[in-house]
Amino acid sequence: MRDKIDYLILRIFKSIVYRLRNRFKPKKLDLMKWAIDSPVKSTVYYTLIDSGFDIEHFRVLNGKYNHKANSKSSGIYAQTRRNVHRIEKGISASFLKKRNVFAKEYIEETINGVEKLLDSKYIDTPFHKWSFDVLNSYFSLITLDDYFNNLKNKWDEIVKKHPLKNGENIVNYSPFQHNKLPVSNISFTELDTLFKRRHSVRWYNDDEVDVQLIKKAVGSALASPSACNRQPFEVLYITGKKLEELKPLKLGFEMFSDSIKAFIFIVGDLSSYIEERDKHLIYIDGSLFAMSLMLALEALGISSCPINYPDVTNIDNKVQDILNLEGYQKGVMLMSVGYASDNSPIPFSAKKGVNEIFKEIN
Ligand SMILES: Cc1cc2nc3c(=O)[nH]c(=O)nc-3n(C[C@H](O)[C@H](O)[C@H](O)COP(=O)(O)O)c2cc1C
Repeated sequence: MRDKIDYLILRIFKSIVYRLRNRFKPKKLDLMKWAIDSPVKSTVYYTLIDSGFDIEHFRVLNGKYNHKANSKSSGIYAQTRRNVHRIEKGISASFLKKRNVFAKEYIEETINGVEKLLDSKYIDTPFHKWSFDVLNSYFSLITLDDYFNNLKNKWDEIVKKHPLKNGENIVNYSPFQHNKLPVSNISFTELDTLFKRRHSVRWYNDDEVDVQLIKKAVGSALASPSACNRQPFEVLYITGKKLEELKPLKLGFEMFSDSIKAFIFIVGDLSSYIEERDKHLIYIDGSLFAMSLMLALEALGISSCPINYPDVTNIDNKVQDILNLEGYQKGVMLMSVGYASDNSPIPFSAKKGVNEIFKEIN
């Protein structure tokens, strides 16, 4: 009974919100002035007066709820990747100063996570080997008491149940010394030229890009950093019928829509997080990846143009329907890709000078 009343109150509140937003529309500027001096007043503004944050709240909340409640979401994968990453940092610190125990608060959660993931679908992925090498290294470093001995026995069973392929042990996917990093022969000038050669290219010729080249660039861009190594995004390569369905959307490609033969869409996954404070990580990690991807494509002779993907409810809902996305998936960056047509005009787009944006602070 109590529950029913609670839901009734919420339904009534929702319809009141719609009415208030209509009523306050003409006075938005005055009310904005009232709201800008405190976070709570800003929340009142965005609840009762302006719908600008509705879609963000909707997707962040979907992510938070599905993180734990939906076994098909990225929740457990993100949590376990983060834990393995934290353990790797602990191992790295132990190289410098020996520690008998660390990660006690989450080692059991990590082992259970790895087991669940390998029992479902992450076998034969880099995660399989990474988690094995890191946790094997962990157990070889810490002092084993009864608690850790039991965990180690459980861990040994998991390793036995999901053996790595022959030959997978040549490289160890666990912390290593800086001097073991591969040597790069790229000079600063060469790198700078690649940066300056990449430009937003909007007009493409009819040559089809081999999807294997796109995957090669994606594989290279996956080396980009991400918060706690979660890499909370998917990359959709969109051509054919789905491309045509997206083209009528009023986004920033209308002027060169006819020349586009393929989109890459980087889609963030908010079910990677349980805390609202992490809600921007899909954009940060997705954009770091996007930049690497554009440079990798450029190095393969493939041009691209990032396209604004604004936080607009009706666009978001349409794209979600067309691409069959979940409520907790959110577009981070759309880009067109293809081979530049010989006469593709390139806006010069002068960049800011270093002294405009650089400040030394002591
Ligand atoms: C997040 C983002 C959104 C963009 N959106 C559009 C867009 O909607 N349409 C477009 O033609 N270009 C778009 N661009 C390309 C920019 O206009 C371009 O990067 C900028 O002018 C600098 O030019 P350059 O990429 O050739 O260096 C976007 C770029 C970024 C990073």
